[in-house]
Amino acid sequence: MGMRRVGVLSGGGDCPGINAVIRAITKKAILDYDLEVIGIHNGFEGLVEGKWRTLQYTDVSGILALGGTILGASNKANPFHYPVSEEEEVVFYDYSQKAIDYYHQMKLDALICIGGDGTFHIANGLLQKGLNVVGVPKTIDNDLSGTDLTFGFDTAVHVVTEAIDRIHTTAQSHHRVMVVEVMGRYAGWIALHGGLAGGGDVILIPEIPFDINTVCEYIKNRIRSGKTFSIVVVAEGTKPKGGELVIKRTVKESHDQVRLGGVSYLVGEGIAERIHLETRMVILGHLQRGGSPTAFDRVLATRFGTAAIALVIEGRFGYFPALQGNHIVPLPIEEGIAELKTIPLNSPLLGVARSTGTCLGE
Ligand code: F6P
Repeated sequence: MGMRRVGVLSGGGDCPGINAVIRAITKKAILDYDLEVIGIHNGFEGLVEGKWRTLQYTDVSGILALGGTILGASNKANPFHYPVSEEEEVVFYDYSQKAIDYYHQMKLDALICIGGDGTFHIANGLLQKGLNVVGVPKTIDNDLSGTDLTFGFDTAVHVVTEAIDRIHTTAQSHHRVMVVEVMGRYAGWIALHGGLAGGGDVILIPEIPFDINTVCEYIKNRIRSGKTFSIVVVAEGTKPKGGELVIKRTVKESHDQVRLGGVSYLVGEGIAERIHLETRMVILGHLQRGGSPTAFDRVLATRFGTAAIALVIEGRFGYFPALQGNHIVPLPIEEGIAELKTIPLNSPLLGVARSTGTCLGE
């Protein structure tokens, strides 16, 4: 079908497992179809500014376990709203035509965009403008619709679990309340899975705004039963009942300009005001995005990468491989971004948390 050259870029923030996807794409493209693979640098920045290189088989050898992305990432480069520094200020231009021109200059027959919702929105825009785009779902937040899981999530949950295990011992020694803040944006997946795996006593998620008095009553009950320490896991996007998100900064150039962070202080200080136990806060931050992917994420990323090449070969543009049960199925990119996948309030996992005595701050 005349498919000769396929481009690949990783948009948005990085995430463990991107290199495993790039490796799978490149190996399958070369081994099964003798395609040429073009690696585009720094996400959509490379597409607008013409920065790319050919990926040979040897370029992707030995990168399976490597965190980050060998192609570089940018969560600011949106061809439809491209930031340009002019004198003192940043001005935005629609540079989508530049991206399209470079796509043709590179003689691409298809472009694989690895990314989360921001990347998928851009990919969809380029698709509407006639480019042959295929997506690969990536985010530690696990908030893309249609796929049970995105790669990177399992690794983030492992990091959180290990951190909670470590915090447990020091919380116990010092009889403290330790508040551990984790990422996830507006979804509580990392907090719920990491919190359950680490045995968090309280797990606060964006889907359930919390009442600080409920949290304090729960901790007091633990004290009455002889437990002189508590672990509170809080997702960065969690709000108090009737309250607001805690925003750390805004990044004007980003698809989602809001950067969350600091809700652990709201929770920790709220507890300290009401209970005479020492309280400490730990924000795990980008630790959750760095380093080597877990075995699960390496396998999932490899499955997604090979499935993306299959979609390219079948000419199923505008699709992305999604994990449903244990199957990889093609879904329209539009479906992935139709709505943010948050934890449903009837999720059995919330039931599991409640049944094992976890406080959800309700
Ligand atoms: O979407 C992934 C994520 O790590 C979120 O969990 C977090 O809110 C955000 O990105 C952080 O973005 P940045 O790397 O720009 O600080």
